[in-house]
Amino acid sequence: MDMAKVIHEKDVCIGCGACAAVCPKYWEMAGDGKAHLKGGKPAGSNFELELADVECNKDAASSCPVNCIKVK
Ligand code: F3S
Repeated sequence: MDMAKVIHEKDVCIGCGACAAVCPKYWEMAGDGKAHLKGGKPAGSNFELELADVECNKDAASSCPVNCIKVK
């Protein structure tokens, strides 16, 4: 199965919280005031998660006001 990748550009995140509101299965707000991609692995300043089904991550990406969530 083709895998998709969810990428969080954490340095760009302003902590708006929309991602966690629309996609709590994968996103939560962390103690640093930014979003945390659950299960995400560090990749430079980003966090990445490979998924077979991106589910609500597309909604998280489209809800983010600074477009720091990418789904590829
Ligand atoms: Fe950050 Fe965007 Fe979520 S600014 S808290 S990744 S909606």
